Amino acid sequence: MTDTKTYRIKSFGCQMNVYDGERMGELLDEKGMRAAEDGEDADLVVLNTCHIREKAAEKAYSDVGRLKREDGSRPTIALAGCVAQAEGAEAQRRSKMIDVVVGPQAYHRLPDLVAQVEKGERPVDTDMPAISKFDAMPKRRKSGPSAFLTVAEGCDKFCTYCVVPYTRGAEISRPWADIVDEAHALVDGGAKEITLLGQNVSAWRGENEKGQDGGLELLVRALARIDGLERIRYTTSHPADMDEGLIAAHGEVDKLMPYLHLPVQAGSDRILKAMNRHHTVESYLRLVERFREARPDLAISGDFIVGFPGESDAEFEETLQVVRDARYASAFSFKYSPRPGTPAADMDGQVPEEVMNERLQRLQAQLAEQSLAFNRSKIGATMDVLIDRKGRLPGQMIGKSPWLQSVFAETDAQIGDILTVDILDALPNSLAGIIRPKEAAA
Ligand code: 5AD
Ligand code: SF4
Repeated sequence: MTDTKTYRIKSFGCQMNVYDGERMGELLDEKGMRAAEDGEDADLVVLNTCHIREKAAEKAYSDVGRLKREDGSRPTIALAGCVAQAEGAEAQRRSKMIDVVVGPQAYHRLPDLVAQVEKGERPVDTDMPAISKFDAMPKRRKSGPSAFLTVAEGCDKFCTYCVVPYTRGAEISRPWADIVDEAHALVDGGAKEITLLGQNVSAWRGENEKGQDGGLELLVRALARIDGLERIRYTTSHPADMDEGLIAAHGEVDKLMPYLHLPVQAGSDRILKAMNRHHTVESYLRLVERFREARPDLAISGDFIVGFPGESDAEFEETLQVVRDARYASAFSFKYSPRPGTPAADMDGQVPEEVMNERLQRLQAQLAEQSLAFNRSKIGATMDVLIDRKGRLPGQMIGKSPWLQSVFAETDAQIGDILTVDILDALPNSLAGIIRPKEAAA
């Protein structure tokens, strides 16, 4: 054994946290640390937390507590992510075990903060220096077949239930050249698919190398020209920010995958207004139809909140109706959770837990039925599958369909291969298929 220090980063919550976790790992690698192996004790543990729903902070503190080892010792502990941002120095008052508190806009300083711990300090860094963290990070070197690339951060929408504008700060678009460079580096490092990330990715704006100003469409079209990059996705979009150019791109850019995560949150105009969503049910459904006109096989996915303050039974029924009308292929659904400091937390008519449970169950049953129907509609289809991991059974590999379904197949192909697969069976959350032999695939 060498005395190289090891780290473990645990990311919770959204894909942006996954991205941030990878970048923190790269920063630590650059300082000569290495990722701890499975089962190996790490010298440094980074908890990259999520604050979007209830008990996030409590969960983070109990995760910290569990890091104590049997002999009473513990690793150096850094609390990162949105709980760190929201709690700040309070985190260290609540838990003596937390050595570093570092927010989502300050993590480029993580190695320095860890070095300060070695000098006996307990640093807290929740600054929000505009964009600079990206400039302070090393170039990307290696990548899995499917990579995340943060293009926009923060959110200015202020939906009344959401902490994001407070924990991630104001909306910021990364500059064009930085994004294009990072995409090239990811592809050189092995990525076949890139998912462009932003809490509100559809608000991205920038200027290309010719000085032309534009939105996500311009970026998608440029990235599609990168040789070796086969698939492009983006998430999460806000219905009020989608423009005609982006819709058209879905019909014209082959590399742009036929999948769109477009949260509606609720099916009642009164609730949408109280949520400050800047769209109505009708404008949302019209938008979905326009996307489907551009790309008829588009899979739509969404996010839903049940039990927003004041939501009546009838208003909840409207949510079930929008689920049917938008024909979701998949979705995430949550019980409303009051977040400290957000306007909705102080609204009248907080909905009792039992009512939320019942609504969530009904919504999820409806969504599950639709996902299964969508998956079944692919039985008999032939599709490209990007292999991204090993299955549990010997010889089994798992990949992603263009519609983001997990596809299981037996093959001796490698992670990163794109295979042509005939789909034989569908389950609620996956497809099963057989690989088409190479000559037949032509
Ligand atoms: N309670 C429940 N769900 C929430 N979300 C955001 N804030 C809350 C909250 N306070 C959900 C929204 C969002 C997704 C990322 O999390 O549906 O789209
Ligand atoms: Fe939160 Fe709304 Fe911004 Fe999404 S769009 S991050 S839900 S405030």
